[in-house]
Amino acid sequence: MALKRKEANSTAIIKSAASLAEQKEAGSITSKSSSIDIVVQQMRATLASGSGVIVDQTAQSVPAEVHEVQQGSSMAQQVMVDPSTTPSRKFIKTGVAGLDILLVDGIPQGAAVIICGGTGSGKTILNLQIMANACEQGKKCLYLTLEESEPHLIEHMADFGWDSRKHIKDGTLMFLRLNPFDIMRNVDALLAKEKGELLIDVKPVIIPGDFVPAMIFVDSLTAISAAFIGRKDTYRIYIEKLFRYFEEIGATVFLITETEQIPTRFSPTGTEEFLADGVIILYSIQRQNMRERAVEVLKMRGVAHQRKVVAMRIVRGFGVEIFPDQEVFVKAI
Ligand SMILES: Nc1ncnc2c1ncn2[C@@H]1O[C@H](COP(=O)(O)OP(=O)(O)O)[C@@H](O)[C@H]1O
Ligand SMILES: [Mg+2]
Repeated sequence: MALKRKEANSTAIIKSAASLAEQKEAGSITSKSSSIDIVVQQMRATLASGSGVIVDQTAQSVPAEVHEVQQGSSMAQQVMVDPSTTPSRKFIKTGVAGLDILLVDGIPQGAAVIICGGTGSGKTILNLQIMANACEQGKKCLYLTLEESEPHLIEHMADFGWDSRKHIKDGTLMFLRLNPFDIMRNVDALLAKEKGELLIDVKPVIIPGDFVPAMIFVDSLTAISAAFIGRKDTYRIYIEKLFRYFEEIGATVFLITETEQIPTRFSPTGTEEFLADGVIILYSIQRQNMRERAVEVLKMRGVAHQRKVVAMRIVRGFGVEIFPDQEVFVKAI
């Protein structure tokens, strides 16, 4: 019963986060966006700790003071921030030289990072590259693919000189093909059985055997969300479960989302980007009859990353190349 209540609480929190995201988008929240981000961050910390006590875990970016959110909704609250609770953090490098320069310290280990962009912007290639680099370091990687088949991804990696077969053989790499409609049907059936709640011990993804990945790649959240069309709330329950599950595993997670070529929203419902610790945008900008690639680290909690949009290209036999000193204007001309 206690576990069920905890689940219900977290569902209420996720709904509040979603509502905040929507209100912010609609312009009905007048407070500074950073304050909203802080509250959502607190919600996430509460979800992670499973307690009712709101404690900030990434006080590096938030000074020790009381933050107040000025808005009409019931979420208006005061949040106490205690920097002494900050755990020492480890960072990982992506192995993509230019991206690591933009990220300065790296990606906090265990973070969930959204990689978003339009179709053909290089999301899958960038993820496969980060994964190939991690496998070379002996890190166990799991690639959850909802769009392309495993043989296709293996071929794709070979084009860039990344030997996935070797890593599958030595046990560092696992591809797992998921059908978004199966996920939707399973979630629907469980919700019907549990009268609107998903039990805490239900796993949103079944990882085979005793494979414990250090890094997980989801390609893509957009494919999952497409199966939940007309069921926004059910999708949100599932996504919250997924983020919590990854957090429990302790893996660093990269979640691909498909957006506009120059996005203003970075995930299917807008909720995911609030749950995520980081957002990296891949741009494909039209310049007359050409398209220019660019990349930006929009957010990375607890990291003083560079804040600029820089040039990127995809090179056959090599992969994604990022030029941190070549700034790009995002606006199409
Ligand atoms: N072998 C290759 N060599 C160079 N560029 C490639 C290669 N394969 C794909 N590309 C480029 O990458 C784009 C697709 O990248 P991908 O990561 O699949 O995009 P998405 O963002 O849709 O996942 C293609 O449109 C093409 O421009
Ligand atoms: Mg793709």
